[in-house]
Amino acid sequence: MHMGNLAAAPGLADAPLIRFEKVSYAYPGSDRQVLKDIDLTIDRGEIIGVIGPTGAGKSTFCLALNGIVPQFFSGTFFGTVAVAGLDTIETPTSRLARLVGMVFEDPETQITATTVESEVAFALENLKVPTPDISRRVRDALAMVGLTGYETKHPANLSGGQKQRLSIASALALAPDIIVLDEPTSQLDPAASEDIFAILLKLKRESRTTVVIATHASEELAQIADRILLISDGRIAAEGPPSDVFSASAMLREHRVRPPDITQSFDVLRRHAGWNAAAALPITLPAAVAAVATLPDLEIAAGSAGKPRESKTTAPALSVDNLTYTYPDGTEALRGIDLTIGQGEFVGILGRNGSGKTTLVRHFLKLMAPTTGAVRVTGEDIAAMKVSEMARRIGYVSQNAHQQIFSDTVAGEVGFALSMMKRPKPEIDAAVEKSLALMDLAWAADRHPISLSRGDRLRVAIAAVLALEPQILIFDEPTTGQDWRGSLAILDTLKVLNGLGKTVVLVTHHLYLLPGFTERLVIMNGGKVVLDGPLRQVFYESARLKEAAIIPPQTVRFAEAVPALRGLSPLGPRDLAERLGLAPEVAA
Ligand SMILES: Nc1ncnc2c1ncn2[C@@H]1O[C@H](COP(=O)(O)OP(=O)(O)OP(=O)(O)O)[C@@H](O)[C@H]1O
Ligand SMILES: [Mg+2]
Repeated sequence: MHMGNLAAAPGLADAPLIRFEKVSYAYPGSDRQVLKDIDLTIDRGEIIGVIGPTGAGKSTFCLALNGIVPQFFSGTFFGTVAVAGLDTIETPTSRLARLVGMVFEDPETQITATTVESEVAFALENLKVPTPDISRRVRDALAMVGLTGYETKHPANLSGGQKQRLSIASALALAPDIIVLDEPTSQLDPAASEDIFAILLKLKRESRTTVVIATHASEELAQIADRILLISDGRIAAEGPPSDVFSASAMLREHRVRPPDITQSFDVLRRHAGWNAAAALPITLPAAVAAVATLPDLEIAAGSAGKPRESKTTAPALSVDNLTYTYPDGTEALRGIDLTIGQGEFVGILGRNGSGKTTLVRHFLKLMAPTTGAVRVTGEDIAAMKVSEMARRIGYVSQNAHQQIFSDTVAGEVGFALSMMKRPKPEIDAAVEKSLALMDLAWAADRHPISLSRGDRLRVAIAAVLALEPQILIFDEPTTGQDWRGSLAILDTLKVLNGLGKTVVLVTHHLYLLPGFTERLVIMNGGKVVLDGPLRQVFYESARLKEAAIIPPQTVRFAEAVPALRGLSPLGPRDLAERLGLAPEVAA
Protein backbone atom coordinates (compact mmCIF):
# COMPACT_ATOMS: atom_id res chain seq x y z
CA MET A 1 0.00 0.00 0.00
CA HIS A 2 1.19 3.49 -0.72
CA MET A 3 0.71 6.32 1.67
CA GLY A 4 -0.01 8.92 -1.02
CA ASN A 5 -2.98 6.94 -2.29
CA LEU A 6 -4.21 6.18 1.16
CA ALA A 7 -4.26 9.79 2.25
CA ALA A 8 -6.17 10.77 -0.85
CA ALA A 9 -8.60 7.87 -0.66
CA PRO A 10 -12.19 8.93 -0.04
CA GLY A 11 -13.60 8.15 3.36
CA LEU A 12 -10.22 8.04 5.03
CA ALA A 13 -10.08 11.72 5.87
CA ASP A 14 -11.72 11.01 9.20
CA ALA A 15 -9.80 7.83 9.94
CA PRO A 16 -7.82 8.06 13.17
CA LEU A 17 -4.34 9.44 12.64
CA ILE A 18 -2.76 6.99 15.07
CA ARG A 19 -4.02 3.51 15.85
CA PHE A 20 -2.64 0.97 18.33
CA GLU A 21 -4.09 -2.51 18.02
CA LYS A 22 -3.36 -5.03 20.75
CA VAL A 23 0.18 -3.76 21.18
CA SER A 24 2.44 -5.61 23.62
CA TYR A 25 6.18 -5.22 23.85
CA ALA A 26 9.16 -6.54 25.80
CA TYR A 27 12.73 -5.17 25.50
CA PRO A 28 15.32 -7.70 24.26
CA GLY A 29 16.59 -10.09 26.89
CA SER A 30 13.59 -9.54 29.12
CA ASP A 31 10.30 -11.37 29.28
CA ARG A 32 8.60 -8.56 31.17
CA GLN A 33 6.11 -6.81 28.93
CA VAL A 34 6.56 -3.07 29.20
CA LEU A 35 3.47 -2.44 27.07
CA LYS A 36 0.50 -4.75 27.51
CA ASP A 37 -2.38 -5.05 25.10
CA ILE A 38 -2.67 -1.38 24.23
CA ASP A 39 -5.69 -0.52 22.08
CA LEU A 40 -6.03 3.11 21.22
CA THR A 41 -6.87 5.62 18.54
CA ILE A 42 -5.78 9.24 18.38
CA ASP A 43 -7.36 11.76 16.01
CA ARG A 44 -5.67 14.58 14.15
CA GLY A 45 -5.39 17.70 16.28
CA GLU A 46 -5.82 15.95 19.62
CA ILE A 47 -3.56 16.75 22.58
CA ILE A 48 -3.01 13.56 24.53
CA GLY A 49 -1.45 13.76 27.99
CA VAL A 50 0.29 10.59 29.12
CA ILE A 51 0.64 10.22 32.88
CA GLY A 52 1.68 7.39 35.18
CA PRO A 53 4.31 6.25 37.64
CA THR A 54 8.05 6.00 36.92
CA GLY A 55 8.81 2.86 34.94
CA ALA A 56 5.17 2.37 33.82
CA GLY A 57 6.00 2.32 30.11
CA LYS A 58 5.32 5.96 29.18
CA SER A 59 8.66 6.42 27.41
CA THR A 60 8.29 3.11 25.58
CA PHE A 61 4.81 4.14 24.49
CA CYS A 62 6.26 7.37 23.08
CA LEU A 63 9.02 5.48 21.23
CA ALA A 64 6.42 3.16 19.69
CA LEU A 65 4.83 6.15 17.97
CA ASN A 66 7.67 6.58 15.49
CA GLY A 67 8.92 3.03 15.09
CA ILE A 68 12.04 3.39 17.27
CA VAL A 69 10.33 0.68 19.31
CA PRO A 70 10.70 -1.97 17.97
CA GLN A 71 12.88 -1.08 14.96
CA PHE A 72 15.96 0.19 16.85
CA PHE A 73 15.55 -1.75 20.04
CA SER A 74 14.19 -5.00 18.54
CA GLY A 75 12.71 -7.09 21.37
CA THR A 76 9.33 -8.83 21.23
CA PHE A 77 6.54 -6.81 19.68
CA PHE A 78 2.95 -7.94 19.19
CA GLY A 79 0.12 -6.10 17.48
CA THR A 80 0.24 -3.11 15.14
CA VAL A 81 0.82 0.59 15.35
CA ALA A 82 -0.30 2.63 12.35
CA VAL A 83 0.53 6.30 11.95
CA ALA A 84 -1.31 8.04 9.09
CA GLY A 85 -1.87 4.59 7.68
CA LEU A 86 1.82 3.63 7.84
CA ASP A 87 2.74 0.49 9.71
CA THR A 88 5.52 1.48 12.13
CA ILE A 89 7.23 -1.89 11.89
CA GLU A 90 7.58 -1.80 8.10
CA THR A 91 8.00 1.89 7.40
CA PRO A 92 11.60 3.15 7.61
CA THR A 93 12.06 5.32 10.70
CA SER A 94 13.53 8.05 8.48
CA ARG A 95 10.15 8.21 6.73
CA LEU A 96 8.23 8.23 10.01
CA ALA A 97 10.51 10.99 11.29
CA ARG A 98 9.02 13.37 8.70
CA LEU A 99 5.64 12.84 10.24
CA VAL A 100 6.46 12.43 13.90
CA GLY A 101 8.77 14.88 15.69
CA MET A 102 10.26 13.54 18.91
CA VAL A 103 11.53 15.26 22.03
CA PHE A 104 13.29 12.67 24.15
CA GLU A 105 13.36 12.53 27.92
CA ASP A 106 17.08 13.11 28.12
CA PRO A 107 18.13 16.07 25.95
CA GLU A 108 21.79 15.07 26.10
CA THR A 109 21.12 11.95 24.04
CA GLN A 110 19.51 14.01 21.28
CA ILE A 111 22.05 16.81 20.83
CA THR A 112 24.83 16.23 18.27
CA ALA A 113 25.90 19.53 16.66
CA THR A 114 28.52 22.00 17.84
CA THR A 115 26.40 25.16 17.92
CA VAL A 116 22.87 25.82 19.06
CA GLU A 117 21.75 27.03 15.63
CA SER A 118 23.35 24.18 13.69
CA GLU A 119 21.67 21.72 16.06
CA VAL A 120 18.26 23.04 15.04
CA ALA A 121 19.23 23.39 11.37
CA PHE A 122 20.59 19.86 11.17
CA ALA A 123 17.29 18.02 11.00
CA LEU A 124 15.88 20.57 8.54
CA GLU A 125 18.84 20.02 6.22
CA ASN A 126 18.24 16.29 6.44
CA LEU A 127 14.67 16.85 5.32
CA LYS A 128 15.96 18.98 2.41
CA VAL A 129 14.19 22.13 3.48
CA PRO A 130 15.34 25.00 1.17
CA THR A 131 18.25 26.93 2.70
CA PRO A 132 16.60 30.40 3.04
CA ASP A 133 13.70 28.77 4.89
CA ILE A 134 16.09 27.01 7.23
CA SER A 135 17.51 30.15 8.81
CA ARG A 136 14.04 31.60 9.34
CA ARG A 137 12.73 28.40 10.87
CA VAL A 138 15.77 28.08 13.13
CA ARG A 139 15.33 31.68 14.28
CA ASP A 140 11.61 31.21 14.99
CA ALA A 141 12.10 27.95 16.87
CA LEU A 142 14.86 29.38 19.06
CA ALA A 143 12.70 32.43 19.82
CA MET A 144 9.80 30.18 20.83
CA VAL A 145 11.87 28.40 23.48
CA GLY A 146 13.67 31.54 24.69
CA LEU A 147 17.12 30.72 23.28
CA THR A 148 17.56 33.84 21.13
CA GLY A 149 21.09 35.11 21.78
CA TYR A 150 22.52 31.61 22.28
CA GLU A 151 22.84 30.78 18.53
CA THR A 152 26.61 30.30 18.48
CA LYS A 153 27.02 28.67 21.88
CA HIS A 154 28.21 25.07 22.05
CA PRO A 155 25.27 22.95 23.22
CA ALA A 156 27.48 21.20 25.77
CA ASN A 157 27.94 24.58 27.46
CA LEU A 158 24.24 25.19 27.99
CA SER A 159 22.60 24.80 31.37
CA GLY A 160 20.43 21.70 31.90
CA GLY A 161 17.19 23.52 31.18
CA GLN A 162 18.66 25.31 28.18
CA LYS A 163 19.58 21.91 26.68
CA GLN A 164 16.01 20.79 27.17
CA ARG A 165 14.79 23.98 25.47
CA LEU A 166 17.14 23.24 22.56
CA SER A 167 15.77 19.77 21.95
CA ILE A 168 12.23 21.18 21.98
CA ALA A 169 13.29 23.85 19.44
CA SER A 170 14.72 21.17 17.14
CA ALA A 171 11.40 19.34 17.08
CA LEU A 172 9.33 22.53 16.66
CA ALA A 173 11.44 23.67 13.70
CA LEU A 174 10.41 20.58 11.76
CA ALA A 175 6.73 21.54 12.10
CA PRO A 176 5.75 17.87 12.13
CA ASP A 177 2.13 16.67 11.86
CA ILE A 178 2.58 14.81 15.11
CA ILE A 179 4.83 15.88 17.95
CA VAL A 180 5.69 13.43 20.71
CA LEU A 181 7.33 14.79 23.84
CA ASP A 182 8.64 12.71 26.74
CA GLU A 183 8.99 14.78 29.93
CA PRO A 184 9.96 17.85 27.89
CA THR A 185 9.68 20.38 30.71
CA SER A 186 11.14 18.41 33.63
CA GLN A 187 14.13 20.76 33.91
CA LEU A 188 12.47 23.99 32.79
CA ASP A 189 11.82 26.96 35.02
CA PRO A 190 8.09 27.41 35.73
CA ALA A 191 7.60 30.26 33.25
CA ALA A 192 9.30 28.38 30.42
CA SER A 193 7.25 25.29 31.21
CA GLU A 194 4.03 27.29 30.89
CA ASP A 195 5.30 28.76 27.62
CA ILE A 196 5.97 25.34 26.11
CA PHE A 197 2.48 24.11 26.94
CA ALA A 198 1.01 27.30 25.45
CA ILE A 199 3.02 26.73 22.25
CA LEU A 200 1.65 23.18 21.97
CA LEU A 201 -1.89 24.47 22.32
CA LYS A 202 -1.21 27.08 19.66
CA LEU A 203 0.16 24.43 17.27
CA LYS A 204 -2.96 22.37 17.75
CA ARG A 205 -5.24 25.35 17.12
CA GLU A 206 -3.37 26.90 14.21
CA SER A 207 -1.93 23.85 12.43
CA ARG A 208 -4.01 20.96 13.76
CA THR A 209 -0.80 19.46 15.08
CA THR A 210 -1.36 16.28 17.04
CA VAL A 211 0.46 16.27 20.36
CA VAL A 212 1.34 13.34 22.60
CA ILE A 213 3.07 14.47 25.78
CA ALA A 214 4.22 12.33 28.70
CA THR A 215 4.71 14.49 31.77
CA HIS A 216 4.42 14.84 35.53
CA ALA A 217 3.32 18.47 35.08
CA SER A 218 -0.31 17.89 36.07
CA GLU A 219 -1.26 21.58 36.28
CA GLU A 220 -0.14 22.40 32.74
CA LEU A 221 -1.66 19.22 31.31
CA ALA A 222 -5.00 19.94 32.95
CA GLN A 223 -5.10 23.20 31.00
CA ILE A 224 -4.35 22.00 27.50
CA ALA A 225 -5.01 18.26 27.10
CA ASP A 226 -8.06 16.92 25.29
CA ARG A 227 -7.59 13.48 26.72
CA ILE A 228 -5.48 11.88 29.44
CA LEU A 229 -4.04 8.38 29.24
CA LEU A 230 -2.95 6.93 32.55
CA ILE A 231 -0.38 4.23 31.83
CA SER A 232 0.46 1.98 34.73
CA ASP A 233 2.40 -1.26 34.57
CA GLY A 234 2.27 -1.18 30.77
CA ARG A 235 -1.50 -0.89 30.51
CA ILE A 236 -3.91 1.93 29.96
CA ALA A 237 -5.27 2.09 33.51
CA ALA A 238 -7.58 5.05 32.85
CA GLU A 239 -8.49 7.23 29.92
CA GLY A 240 -10.73 10.26 29.65
CA PRO A 241 -11.02 14.03 29.63
CA PRO A 242 -8.67 15.78 32.08
CA SER A 243 -11.62 16.90 34.23
CA ASP A 244 -12.51 13.26 34.93
CA VAL A 245 -9.03 11.85 35.36
CA PHE A 246 -7.45 14.67 37.39
CA SER A 247 -10.35 14.91 39.82
CA ALA A 248 -10.20 11.19 40.63
CA SER A 249 -7.66 11.76 43.38
CA ALA A 250 -7.84 8.35 45.06
CA MET A 251 -7.28 6.59 41.74
CA LEU A 252 -4.38 8.91 40.86
CA ARG A 253 -2.76 8.40 44.23
CA GLU A 254 -2.90 4.67 43.73
CA HIS A 255 -0.84 5.18 40.55
CA ARG A 256 1.58 7.66 42.15
CA VAL A 257 0.26 10.55 40.07
CA ARG A 258 -0.07 14.00 41.62
CA PRO A 259 -3.42 15.72 41.04
CA PRO A 260 -3.08 19.44 40.22
CA ASP A 261 -2.23 21.51 43.29
CA ILE A 262 -5.50 23.43 43.00
CA THR A 263 -7.61 20.26 42.81
CA GLN A 264 -6.13 19.01 46.06
CA SER A 265 -6.50 22.37 47.79
CA PHE A 266 -10.06 22.82 46.61
CA ASP A 267 -10.86 19.39 48.00
CA VAL A 268 -9.43 20.43 51.37
CA LEU A 269 -11.46 23.64 51.32
CA ARG A 270 -14.61 21.82 50.30
CA ARG A 271 -14.36 19.54 53.30
CA HIS A 272 -13.66 22.44 55.61
CA ALA A 273 -16.59 24.49 54.32
CA GLY A 274 -18.93 21.53 54.00
CA TRP A 275 -19.53 22.22 50.31
CA ASN A 276 -21.36 19.66 48.24
CA ALA A 277 -18.96 16.77 47.82
CA ALA A 278 -20.84 15.47 44.78
CA ALA A 279 -19.89 18.47 42.61
CA ALA A 280 -16.91 17.96 40.33
CA LEU A 281 -13.60 19.25 41.61
CA PRO A 282 -12.02 22.00 39.50
CA ILE A 283 -8.75 21.06 37.82
CA THR A 284 -7.57 24.51 36.78
CA LEU A 285 -6.98 27.69 38.74
CA PRO A 286 -9.53 29.83 36.82
CA ALA A 287 -12.17 27.11 37.29
CA ALA A 288 -11.47 27.00 41.03
CA VAL A 289 -11.72 30.78 41.38
CA ALA A 290 -14.99 30.74 39.42
CA ALA A 291 -16.35 27.86 41.52
CA VAL A 292 -15.65 29.64 44.80
CA ALA A 293 -17.67 32.65 43.64
CA THR A 294 -20.79 30.49 43.26
CA LEU A 295 -20.47 28.77 46.65
CA PRO A 296 -21.60 29.94 50.10
CA ASP A 297 -19.22 32.44 51.69
CA LEU A 298 -16.11 30.98 53.17
CA GLU A 299 -15.62 31.76 56.79
CA ILE A 300 -12.09 31.39 57.93
CA ALA A 301 -10.85 32.83 61.16
CA ALA A 302 -8.19 35.38 60.34
CA GLY A 303 -5.04 35.35 62.37
CA SER A 304 -4.71 31.58 62.24
CA ALA A 305 -1.71 32.24 60.05
CA GLY A 306 0.54 30.67 62.63
CA LYS A 307 3.63 31.97 64.29
CA PRO A 308 6.73 32.49 62.24
CA ARG A 309 9.50 30.08 63.07
CA GLU A 310 12.18 31.57 65.20
CA SER A 311 15.22 31.90 63.04
CA LYS A 312 18.07 29.86 64.36
CA THR A 313 21.47 31.36 64.00
CA THR A 314 24.07 28.69 63.57
CA ALA A 315 27.64 28.56 62.43
CA PRO A 316 27.93 28.83 58.66
CA ALA A 317 28.14 25.61 56.67
CA LEU A 318 28.53 27.15 53.22
CA SER A 319 29.28 30.73 52.32
CA VAL A 320 30.43 32.85 49.42
CA ASP A 321 31.54 36.48 49.39
CA ASN A 322 31.21 38.60 46.31
CA LEU A 323 31.52 35.54 44.11
CA THR A 324 31.71 36.04 40.37
CA TYR A 325 32.33 33.47 37.69
CA THR A 326 32.89 33.92 33.97
CA TYR A 327 33.06 30.82 31.74
CA PRO A 328 35.91 30.55 29.20
CA ASP A 329 33.47 31.47 26.40
CA GLY A 330 32.79 34.78 28.15
CA THR A 331 29.44 33.96 29.78
CA GLU A 332 29.16 35.86 33.05
CA ALA A 333 27.30 33.19 34.99
CA LEU A 334 27.70 34.66 38.50
CA ARG A 335 27.75 38.41 39.01
CA GLY A 336 28.52 39.03 42.66
CA ILE A 337 26.90 36.64 45.11
CA ASP A 338 26.92 36.96 48.88
CA LEU A 339 25.25 34.02 50.54
CA THR A 340 25.60 32.16 53.82
CA ILE A 341 23.87 28.90 54.60
CA GLY A 342 23.94 27.92 58.27
CA GLN A 343 24.67 24.44 59.62
CA GLY A 344 21.48 22.45 59.86
CA GLU A 345 19.50 24.63 57.43
CA PHE A 346 17.33 23.19 54.65
CA VAL A 347 17.49 25.70 51.81
CA GLY A 348 15.85 25.66 48.39
CA ILE A 349 17.57 27.42 45.48
CA LEU A 350 15.28 28.38 42.61
CA GLY A 351 15.65 30.42 39.47
CA ARG A 352 15.31 30.76 35.76
CA ASN A 353 17.21 28.36 33.49
CA GLY A 354 20.73 29.71 33.15
CA SER A 355 20.47 31.94 36.24
CA GLY A 356 23.61 30.34 37.69
CA LYS A 357 22.30 27.79 40.22
CA THR A 358 24.46 24.90 39.08
CA THR A 359 27.47 27.16 38.59
CA LEU A 360 27.07 28.38 42.18
CA VAL A 361 26.75 24.99 43.84
CA ARG A 362 29.65 23.52 41.88
CA HIS A 363 31.87 26.13 43.53
CA PHE A 364 31.24 24.55 46.93
CA LEU A 365 32.81 21.32 45.65
CA LYS A 366 35.72 23.12 44.08
CA LEU A 367 34.64 21.80 40.72
CA MET A 368 35.27 25.33 39.51
CA ALA A 369 37.45 28.14 40.79
CA PRO A 370 35.94 31.60 41.38
CA THR A 371 36.79 34.33 38.91
CA THR A 372 36.70 36.66 41.91
CA GLY A 373 35.55 36.23 45.50
CA ALA A 374 35.89 33.58 48.17
CA VAL A 375 34.14 30.30 48.95
CA ARG A 376 34.06 28.89 52.48
CA VAL A 377 32.94 25.53 53.80
CA THR A 378 32.32 25.38 57.56
CA GLY A 379 34.12 28.68 57.81
CA GLU A 380 37.32 27.62 56.04
CA ASP A 381 38.39 29.09 52.73
CA ILE A 382 38.41 26.19 50.30
CA ALA A 383 41.21 27.63 48.17
CA ALA A 384 43.70 25.47 50.07
CA MET A 385 41.55 22.31 50.30
CA LYS A 386 41.81 19.24 48.09
CA VAL A 387 38.86 18.26 45.92
CA SER A 388 38.83 14.80 47.55
CA GLU A 389 38.54 16.50 50.93
CA MET A 390 35.55 18.50 49.71
CA ALA A 391 33.86 15.37 48.42
CA ARG A 392 34.08 13.81 51.88
CA ARG A 393 32.39 16.75 53.55
CA ILE A 394 29.78 17.45 50.93
CA GLY A 395 27.49 14.96 49.24
CA TYR A 396 26.68 16.27 45.78
CA VAL A 397 24.07 14.89 43.43
CA SER A 398 24.62 16.68 40.15
CA GLN A 399 21.97 17.63 37.64
CA ASN A 400 23.07 14.81 35.33
CA ALA A 401 23.95 12.29 38.03
CA HIS A 402 21.84 9.69 36.23
CA GLN A 403 24.48 9.61 33.48
CA GLN A 404 27.39 8.61 35.72
CA ILE A 405 28.08 4.91 35.84
CA PHE A 406 31.19 3.50 37.52
CA SER A 407 30.19 -0.08 38.21
CA ASP A 408 28.28 -2.91 36.59
CA THR A 409 25.88 -3.47 39.48
CA VAL A 410 23.74 -1.05 41.40
CA ALA A 411 25.22 -2.27 44.70
CA GLY A 412 28.74 -1.77 43.32
CA GLU A 413 27.80 1.70 42.17
CA VAL A 414 26.51 2.69 45.60
CA GLY A 415 29.61 1.33 47.35
CA PHE A 416 32.05 2.63 44.72
CA ALA A 417 33.41 5.65 46.59
CA LEU A 418 33.75 3.70 49.83
CA SER A 419 35.72 0.97 48.10
CA MET A 420 37.97 3.61 46.51
CA MET A 421 38.60 4.81 50.06
CA LYS A 422 39.58 1.23 50.94
CA ARG A 423 37.03 0.84 53.72
CA PRO A 424 36.56 -2.70 55.13
CA LYS A 425 34.09 -4.81 53.15
CA PRO A 426 31.56 -5.41 55.98
CA GLU A 427 31.38 -1.65 56.51
CA ILE A 428 30.80 -1.06 52.79
CA ASP A 429 28.15 -3.78 52.60
CA ALA A 430 26.28 -2.35 55.55
CA ALA A 431 26.39 1.19 54.16
CA VAL A 432 25.23 0.01 50.73
CA GLU A 433 22.34 -1.96 52.16
CA LYS A 434 21.21 0.98 54.26
CA SER A 435 21.36 3.48 51.40
CA LEU A 436 19.61 1.17 48.97
CA ALA A 437 16.81 0.69 51.49
CA LEU A 438 16.53 4.48 51.98
CA MET A 439 16.09 4.97 48.24
CA ASP A 440 13.73 1.99 47.88
CA LEU A 441 16.22 0.26 45.60
CA ALA A 442 16.94 -3.03 47.36
CA TRP A 443 15.22 -4.83 44.47
CA ALA A 444 17.79 -3.43 42.03
CA ALA A 445 21.00 -4.32 43.94
CA ASP A 446 22.23 -6.82 41.33
CA ARG A 447 20.91 -5.04 38.23
CA HIS A 448 23.20 -3.20 35.82
CA PRO A 449 22.61 0.53 36.34
CA ILE A 450 22.14 0.94 32.59
CA SER A 451 19.04 -1.28 32.64
CA LEU A 452 17.20 1.09 34.97
CA SER A 453 14.89 3.98 34.04
CA ARG A 454 16.28 7.50 34.22
CA GLY A 455 14.44 8.13 37.49
CA ASP A 456 15.75 4.95 39.10
CA ARG A 457 19.33 5.67 37.96
CA LEU A 458 19.14 9.05 39.61
CA ARG A 459 18.05 7.40 42.86
CA VAL A 460 21.10 5.12 42.58
CA ALA A 461 23.29 8.24 42.42
CA ILE A 462 21.53 9.60 45.50
CA ALA A 463 22.06 6.32 47.37
CA ALA A 464 25.76 6.45 46.46
CA VAL A 465 26.04 9.89 48.03
CA LEU A 466 24.12 8.90 51.16
CA ALA A 467 26.44 5.92 51.69
CA LEU A 468 29.25 8.38 52.43
CA GLU A 469 27.23 10.04 55.22
CA PRO A 470 28.42 13.59 54.47
CA GLN A 471 27.49 16.46 56.79
CA ILE A 472 26.37 18.70 53.95
CA LEU A 473 24.11 17.61 51.10
CA ILE A 474 23.72 19.51 47.83
CA PHE A 475 21.15 18.09 45.42
CA ASP A 476 20.79 19.69 41.98
CA GLU A 477 17.29 18.92 40.63
CA PRO A 478 16.97 15.46 42.15
CA THR A 479 13.26 15.13 41.32
CA THR A 480 13.65 15.39 37.53
CA GLY A 481 11.67 12.57 35.95
CA GLN A 482 10.50 11.20 39.32
CA ASP A 483 6.85 10.49 39.90
CA TRP A 484 5.04 12.08 42.83
CA ARG A 485 5.76 9.38 45.38
CA GLY A 486 9.37 9.11 44.25
CA SER A 487 9.82 12.88 44.57
CA LEU A 488 8.29 12.93 48.03
CA ALA A 489 10.45 9.98 49.09
CA ILE A 490 13.59 11.93 48.11
CA LEU A 491 12.41 14.99 50.04
CA ASP A 492 11.42 12.85 53.03
CA THR A 493 14.90 11.35 53.11
CA LEU A 494 16.45 14.80 52.97
CA LYS A 495 14.17 15.93 55.79
CA VAL A 496 15.19 13.00 57.98
CA LEU A 497 18.86 13.73 57.34
CA ASN A 498 18.26 17.42 58.03
CA GLY A 499 16.60 16.40 61.30
CA LEU A 500 19.86 14.67 62.19
CA GLY A 501 21.64 18.01 61.85
CA LYS A 502 22.83 17.80 58.26
CA THR A 503 22.76 20.90 56.08
CA VAL A 504 20.66 20.46 52.94
CA VAL A 505 20.69 22.55 49.77
CA LEU A 506 18.11 21.64 47.15
CA VAL A 507 18.11 23.17 43.67
CA THR A 508 14.74 22.66 42.02
CA HIS A 509 12.04 24.03 39.73
CA HIS A 510 9.32 22.05 41.51
CA LEU A 511 8.00 24.61 43.98
CA TYR A 512 4.95 22.57 44.87
CA LEU A 513 7.18 19.98 46.53
CA LEU A 514 8.80 22.39 48.96
CA PRO A 515 6.14 23.17 51.63
CA GLY A 516 6.78 21.08 54.71
CA PHE A 517 10.41 20.56 53.73
CA THR A 518 12.52 23.64 53.06
CA GLU A 519 12.35 26.59 55.41
CA ARG A 520 14.27 29.10 53.38
CA LEU A 521 14.22 29.95 49.70
CA VAL A 522 16.94 31.64 47.71
CA ILE A 523 15.88 32.94 44.29
CA MET A 524 18.52 33.57 41.62
CA ASN A 525 18.21 35.61 38.47
CA GLY A 526 20.90 36.69 36.02
CA GLY A 527 23.74 35.41 38.18
CA LYS A 528 22.55 37.19 41.32
CA VAL A 529 20.50 36.37 44.40
CA VAL A 530 17.34 38.46 44.01
CA LEU A 531 15.23 37.13 46.90
CA ASP A 532 16.14 35.28 50.07
CA GLY A 533 13.77 34.55 52.91
CA PRO A 534 11.34 32.18 54.62
CA LEU A 535 9.24 30.06 52.27
CA ARG A 536 5.93 31.57 53.36
CA GLN A 537 7.18 35.05 52.64
CA VAL A 538 8.93 34.35 49.34
CA PHE A 539 6.02 32.34 47.89
CA TYR A 540 3.83 35.44 48.24
CA GLU A 541 6.26 37.86 46.54
CA SER A 542 4.45 37.21 43.26
CA ALA A 543 5.64 40.29 41.37
CA ARG A 544 9.29 39.75 42.18
CA LEU A 545 9.03 36.02 41.56
CA LYS A 546 7.56 36.69 38.14
CA GLU A 547 10.60 38.77 37.20
CA ALA A 548 12.69 35.71 38.05
CA ALA A 549 10.52 33.37 35.89
CA ILE A 550 9.08 31.69 38.98
CA ILE A 551 5.37 31.02 39.23
CA PRO A 552 4.14 30.25 42.75
CA PRO A 553 2.14 27.05 43.30
CA GLN A 554 -1.57 27.23 42.39
CA THR A 555 -2.63 27.17 46.05
CA VAL A 556 -0.72 30.39 46.63
CA ARG A 557 -2.24 32.08 43.58
CA PHE A 558 -5.67 30.83 44.66
CA ALA A 559 -5.26 32.39 48.10
CA GLU A 560 -4.25 35.65 46.43
CA ALA A 561 -7.52 35.62 44.48
CA VAL A 562 -9.87 34.57 47.29
CA PRO A 563 -10.13 37.21 50.06
CA ALA A 564 -11.10 34.75 52.80
CA LEU A 565 -7.92 32.79 52.24
CA ARG A 566 -5.47 35.65 52.08
CA GLY A 567 -4.84 35.92 55.80
CA LEU A 568 -3.99 32.23 55.93
CA SER A 569 -1.28 32.40 53.25
CA PRO A 570 -1.37 28.66 52.56
CA LEU A 571 1.56 27.10 50.69
CA GLY A 572 -0.05 23.98 49.32
CA PRO A 573 -2.82 21.45 49.94
CA ARG A 574 -1.24 19.83 52.97
CA ASP A 575 -0.34 23.15 54.51
CA LEU A 576 -3.87 24.44 53.88
CA ALA A 577 -5.32 21.40 55.64
CA GLU A 578 -3.03 21.96 58.61
CA ARG A 579 -3.92 25.63 58.83
CA LEU A 580 -7.61 24.80 58.76
CA GLY A 581 -7.10 22.23 61.48
CA LEU A 582 -8.07 19.33 59.24
CA ALA A 583 -6.44 15.94 59.45
CA PRO A 584 -3.48 15.80 57.06
CA GLU A 585 -4.83 12.70 55.32
CA VAL A 586 -7.46 14.82 53.58
CA ALA A 587 -4.59 16.34 51.59
CA ALA A 588 -1.53 14.67 50.08
N1 LIG B 1 30.54 25.01 30.51
C1 LIG B 1 29.97 26.17 30.21
N2 LIG B 1 30.55 27.03 29.34
C2 LIG B 1 30.00 28.22 29.04
N3 LIG B 1 28.83 28.66 29.55
C3 LIG B 1 28.20 27.86 30.44
C4 LIG B 1 28.72 26.59 30.81
N4 LIG B 1 27.87 26.01 31.69
C5 LIG B 1 26.86 26.88 31.86
N5 LIG B 1 27.06 28.01 31.12
C6 LIG B 1 26.20 29.20 31.06
O1 LIG B 1 26.22 29.81 32.34
C7 LIG B 1 24.93 30.29 32.71
C8 LIG B 1 24.52 29.66 34.04
O2 LIG B 1 24.39 28.26 33.85
P1 LIG B 1 23.95 27.27 35.04
O3 LIG B 1 24.15 25.89 34.54
O4 LIG B 1 24.65 27.66 36.29
O5 LIG B 1 22.39 27.63 35.17
P2 LIG B 1 21.24 26.98 36.07
O6 LIG B 1 20.66 28.07 36.87
O7 LIG B 1 21.76 25.81 36.80
O8 LIG B 1 20.16 26.57 34.95
P3 LIG B 1 19.14 25.29 34.85
O9 LIG B 1 17.93 25.65 35.63
O10 LIG B 1 18.83 25.24 33.39
O11 LIG B 1 19.88 24.10 35.35
C9 LIG B 1 24.02 29.97 31.52
O12 LIG B 1 23.88 31.12 30.71
C10 LIG B 1 24.76 28.88 30.76
O13 LIG B 1 24.47 28.94 29.39
MG1 LIG C 1 21.35 23.78 36.68
